[in-house]
Amino acid sequence: MSIELYRDDNHVCLMFTNLIEEDGQAIQANQFLIVDNGTGAIIDPGGNIAFNELFMGMSRYFPPNKLSYLIASHADPDIIASLDRWMTSTRAQLVISRIWERFAPHFTKVGKTENRVIGVPDAGARLPLGRSELHILPAHFLHAEGNFHFYDPISRILFTGDLGVSLMTGAEAEKPVTDLGPHIALMKGFHQRYMVSNKILRMWVQMARQLRIDMIVPQHGAPIMGAKAIADLLSWLEELPCGIDLFEQSNYQLPTASIDPVSRQIRL
Ligand SMILES: [Fe+2]
Ligand SMILES: [Fe+2]
Repeated sequence: MSIELYRDDNHVCLMFTNLIEEDGQAIQANQFLIVDNGTGAIIDPGGNIAFNELFMGMSRYFPPNKLSYLIASHADPDIIASLDRWMTSTRAQLVISRIWERFAPHFTKVGKTENRVIGVPDAGARLPLGRSELHILPAHFLHAEGNFHFYDPISRILFTGDLGVSLMTGAEAEKPVTDLGPHIALMKGFHQRYMVSNKILRMWVQMARQLRIDMIVPQHGAPIMGAKAIADLLSWLEELPCGIDLFEQSNYQLPTASIDPVSRQIRL
């Protein structure tokens, strides 16, 4: 389904969520459409399993053949595994970190990305969109090595990819969270394992505090809305040990467990 995150006469931000049938195999994911004065961009279009539903769903709001950009926070399968189909069905350009620029063509048939990739340098940049601009902010190592977030100055939404993610299913992910307290349990394990280090989180928080943010919208789980919940999220991230902070020599031992390929279980 689609959820209107923001709308005025010239500018729309939509979130598409739960497009894929829940069978427990693929993680719940959100995709986004931003339209400004007749120019459209998709943020984190998703995997092959999301393509048909997203293509049809967005067509109700914007003609896909007029899409200007497919914008990828990073190069994971749940972000752009559908790239071949988008490159075939639209004339959009792919906007992605320079460090993934030459990896992304592996998602497509030969030649599909030719002269259609905008490689964003590590420092980020401002991308013209209609009469506005989307701010491409550095968010490297949160979690991918080349990773960006996208700030829309009109809606004041910060699209944070895998940062601020909560693991939930179905309709839960459709309702914005305004009280961070009970939400932390749904975020903690994911951030501790997928985010690279607290040093990176602290630098990112310092940058993010310079923005006026009405909503933080991750690629999995519910948006986080309102000044109090957003301030609480930034404070929580600033204090969170994660990734390499938590890894010890004990995590790097030669394995003794074996995999049973029939039951797909690990035998200790
Ligand atoms: Fe990811
Ligand atoms: Fe993701």
